[in-house]
Amino acid sequence: MHAFLAALVVVAPAVPAAPAAPAPPASPEAEEQAAAAAAAARVEEAAAKAAAAAKAAGDAASGAAAGAAASSSAASAASQSSALAGEAAEAAAAALATVRGAAGAEAFRVHCAPCHGRAGKGDGPAARWLDPPARDLTAGELRWRSTPSGAPATEADVLRTIDEGVPGTSMPGWRRRLPAAVREALARYVLELGAANFDPDDVEPPIAVPDPPASTPALVAQGGRAYAALGCAACHGPTGRGDGASAPTLKDSRGRPVAMPDLSRPYARAGDGPQAVYRTLMTGLDGSPMPEFGQAIKPGDRWPLALYLMSLRVERGPMGWLLDPLEEQIP
Ligand code: HEC
Ligand code: HEC
Repeated sequence: MHAFLAALVVVAPAVPAAPAAPAPPASPEAEEQAAAAAAAARVEEAAAKAAAAAKAAGDAASGAAAGAAASSSAASAASQSSALAGEAAEAAAAALATVRGAAGAEAFRVHCAPCHGRAGKGDGPAARWLDPPARDLTAGELRWRSTPSGAPATEADVLRTIDEGVPGTSMPGWRRRLPAAVREALARYVLELGAANFDPDDVEPPIAVPDPPASTPALVAQGGRAYAALGCAACHGPTGRGDGASAPTLKDSRGRPVAMPDLSRPYARAGDGPQAVYRTLMTGLDGSPMPEFGQAIKPGDRWPLALYLMSLRVERGPMGWLLDPLEEQIP
């Protein structure tokens, strides 16, 4: 072997390992993640315990039922024991709900309160910088629902907003930031924040959104006529840029100014695709000045109108900001 290489081979193991660097102090973000993960773990653990309790109770009941076949006096024991099984399952479910509630409240305090406020009233320390403002979630009025106007949102609706965020506003999407169990607990918690105005368990069936037809110039033109006839331009402007005559005067149900959406942007607050637009038209955006059009739009005009709105969207490209009116760019 070459002498130099041999020297290397000999020397290499002798090089002392660098002393382990002291662990850097945990960042607030890492701490939050750890808190969220711990909350998620608690939910999982409670779910497992509840399932085990329900199973044990069920086993006891079926054991007793087997005994019942042997003697008739055992039959009453069996029914007693299956009642016990029911009670155990109920208690387990209640325990799970409590743990979920605690996990939701804790995650809300850490992740949502900076904007939405400790009590969810939209008055967190960061709120004064936000436009549109962080929502007062105690109002019990949620914009992005699948349910009819005036009905509570479903847990799935709230979860969708938490997962995706609200594009074009400061409301972030949390899908990649928080584990699923925590996001689900948060969705439930948000519904409960509005419970003074709504019973979150008073569920109404979602409005069905059929599959969209393929967009054609004729359907888009028909939708354009409906847009003019229904007076959408009064608020949204003739080309959907949010510059209608009444736009500057609009306030939400809490008297706060609303940020008019620019319908020519390639994304929507309501979510992706024509189905989200169709849903918006049918459900209205509760708490905002955007009326619920639903039945006012002739069934034959609903898809054409949604497709017309999709046709207004313009991909902006890297210099896209040049297309936006200047006042929109000044915070
Ligand atoms: C950086 C600030 C910010 C943070 C953090 C934040 N939000 Fe929001 N959130 C907003 C803003 C702003 C809006 C209103 C958007 C609008 O009106 O277009 C909003 C709206 C919402 C809505 C209303 C949806 C609807 O259908 O009307 C819900 C629910 C919500 N946030 C839940 C949460 C939850 C849960 C968290 C924590 C995981 C959270 N937000 C964290 C800023 C924030
Ligand atoms: C009285 C004023 C007003 C009228 C009339 C009105 N809108 Fe709206 N619309 C709004 C406001 C305000 C918002 C934003 C609400 C929010 O996000 O807080 C909105 C939101 C929307 C959105 C959701 C955009 C997104 O980013 O998800 C769509 C789609 C829409 N309007 C379509 C229409 C159509 C179509 C008509 C006519 C049939 C119409 N609007 C009539 C005020 C109005």
